[in-house]
Amino acid sequence: MLETKIYNLEIQKVTKSRIHEIDFNHIPFGKYFSDHMFVVDYKNEEWQDGKIVPYGPMSMAPSISALHYGQALFEGMKAYKDTKGNSWLFRPTDNHARLNISAERLCMPAIPEDLFMQGLMELIRLDSNWIPKQENAALYIRPVMFAIDEFVGVKPSQNYRFVIFTCPVGQYYSEPVSVLVETKYVRAFEGGLGFTKAAANYAAALMPAKLGQSKGYHQMLWTDGFEHKYIEESGTMNVMFVIGNKVVTPMTSGTILSGITRDSIIQLLKDWGIPVEERRISIDDLLTAHSKNELKEAFGVGTAATVAHIAKIGYMGKDFQLPVITPSSISHRILKTLTDIRTGKCEDKFGWMVRV
Ligand code: COI
Repeated sequence: MLETKIYNLEIQKVTKSRIHEIDFNHIPFGKYFSDHMFVVDYKNEEWQDGKIVPYGPMSMAPSISALHYGQALFEGMKAYKDTKGNSWLFRPTDNHARLNISAERLCMPAIPEDLFMQGLMELIRLDSNWIPKQENAALYIRPVMFAIDEFVGVKPSQNYRFVIFTCPVGQYYSEPVSVLVETKYVRAFEGGLGFTKAAANYAAALMPAKLGQSKGYHQMLWTDGFEHKYIEESGTMNVMFVIGNKVVTPMTSGTILSGITRDSIIQLLKDWGIPVEERRISIDDLLTAHSKNELKEAFGVGTAATVAHIAKIGYMGKDFQLPVITPSSISHRILKTLTDIRTGKCEDKFGWMVRV
């Protein structure tokens, strides 16, 4: 067994908490940040000990290479309160593993699990009052790593900064979403960055998403880069469809993010005996199922989005409406079960929750 390495975290607490400025009953997504953040640098080819400091601006030179050559990646995870007031994290080591997968592709150093977990745990312990108790709310946790060499020239940076900050959040989508099938722009190609949480992936999506929003859609439904024929994922989430009695979702590949919520849902469905297929899904197949009334549900899944019902799919100038979700809908059952596991209202038989 590998020995746990204990890092010597320095902690500087805020002199006055900002928590009283937050209306926990009306929290917009991603706007308010909790009191502290965890910061650690990679230098001289190793990760330092790290510190927890008041959340706030950091001074950085305009020459840092993340700004120019894009070595920047992030993760998204959440902390929850159970009914007894204890704090929990959902599958944090899976986020850590995925972060290192992204880091490898972006030529950035892997962060040791012990450092990631010790910084994360200490931060969440310190700011545990920031975890909302309200329904459909959580403390969103944003780990982010970026290159900090002050250097002009294309080469991997030698120095990096890793930060974790958090924000109490409500729902990412406050209403069922409408998605527009993208047939011109591409999110990712095989061999590219699609499977990573590189900041660049999100930058590439902004302009097409803005065009989609100007046409009245919330998000794009990305298709493959070769034929624009097969569904990939939506702007901020993986996608799933209930076709007949099966749940179908695009298989993960080099172009799709391997979502932790996606994986959890697949495990739940299998446990419930609901057939689930991970495969290529063409737009044509989807619309054929729709025309035969076999497309019962479509929903996006992700940490931020949780389970977001898709009410409308736009394709080639036409809108395809989806049935309204009811308490017996599969996506409704999934969301309820995930919420119950996360808040300790039902058994965590998969061992996903980690006590803070
Ligand atoms: C998440 O679901 O955590 C994400 O990172 C999506 C983000 C773009 C809000």
